[in-house]
Amino acid sequence: MSAQSHIPRMTAPEITARKGKEPIVCLTAYDAPMAAIVDEYCDLILVGDSVGMVVHGLSSTVGVTLEMMILHGQAVMRTSKKALVVVDLPFGSYEDSVETAFKSASRVLMETGCQAIKIESGSYAPATISYLTERGIPVMAHVGLRPQSVNVLGGYRARGRDQKVATEIINNAVAAAEAGAFAIVVEGVNTKLAEQVTEAIHVPTIGIGASKHCDGQILVTPDMLGMFDWTPKFVKKFTDLKGESEKAVKAYAEQVKARAFPSKEYTYKFDAQPAKKTPNKTPNKIK
Ligand code: KIV
Repeated sequence: MSAQSHIPRMTAPEITARKGKEPIVCLTAYDAPMAAIVDEYCDLILVGDSVGMVVHGLSSTVGVTLEMMILHGQAVMRTSKKALVVVDLPFGSYEDSVETAFKSASRVLMETGCQAIKIESGSYAPATISYLTERGIPVMAHVGLRPQSVNVLGGYRARGRDQKVATEIINNAVAAAEAGAFAIVVEGVNTKLAEQVTEAIHVPTIGIGASKHCDGQILVTPDMLGMFDWTPKFVKKFTDLKGESEKAVKAYAEQVKARAFPSKEYTYKFDAQPAKKTPNKTPNKIK
C-alpha cells in the first residue's frame, strides 16, 4: 500500500479538540466484521470490557482478562481504518500501581496497534493517567457508574443520587482531566450531573446513560442493535437483531428438516473429470 492511499485514523488530540463542537460518535466493537461497520460512522471505537458480558456471557466485567482484551483489540484493529481505537484495561490489570498500569497498557498498544486505553477512574486514577500519558499512552477515563466496581456498589444503578457521591464524581472527572485524560466516559448519571461534569472539564465527556448534554455518546453495540431482551433504561434499540436472527435460524432449521435447503442454487454442479495421467517422477535407474 502506498503512503498516499493511507487514510489517517482519528487521533486522541483530535477527539480532545472536539470539546463543545460537533458531537463525538462512539460505539463499542469486539470483532472484525462489526468493527468494519462501526468504523464507517464513528469517530471512536471502544473495545470495551463489556465484551465479557455481551460476547462471553459473563455476569460482570470482573472476569475479563488482559489476554481477552488483546485478542479482541487485534480483531477490531484489522478491519477498522478511520476511527480512534481505544481498548479497556480490565479489572486487576492497572489499579495497584502505575508500573502495573504501564505494563498492561504498553502490552495492549504494542500487541493490538490500538492508539489509547481506558481505565475506570476512582481516586487512584490521576497518578496512573499522568504516568501513562507522559510515557506516550493516551488515556480515556471513566467516571460515574463504574462497572468494574459492581461488587462494591452492589449493582448497576445510576450514580449521583446523593450530593456526596455527585460531588465525588465531579471531582474524579476534574482530577482525571487535569492529569491528562484526553476524554472522559460519564456513565449512568442524571442530566444535571452530566451537565455539571461537562462544564467542569476542558476535555470531552462521552455519555452513556448520561443525557444529551455530553460532548459525545457511546453505547454497547449489541445493546443498541437489539441483541438482548433486557437492556438498561438508557439504551435505545435501533434495530431488532435478536428477533431477526431468531427468524433466520428458525427458517434455516425448517428448511434443513424439509430438505428444502440446500436447493440446486446452493449446490456444486460440476462432474468429476477423469484423472489426468501424471508423469512418472521415479528417477531413472543409473545403469
Ligand atoms: O466496556 C464498555 O463497553 C464501556 C462502555 C460502557 C463505555 O466501558
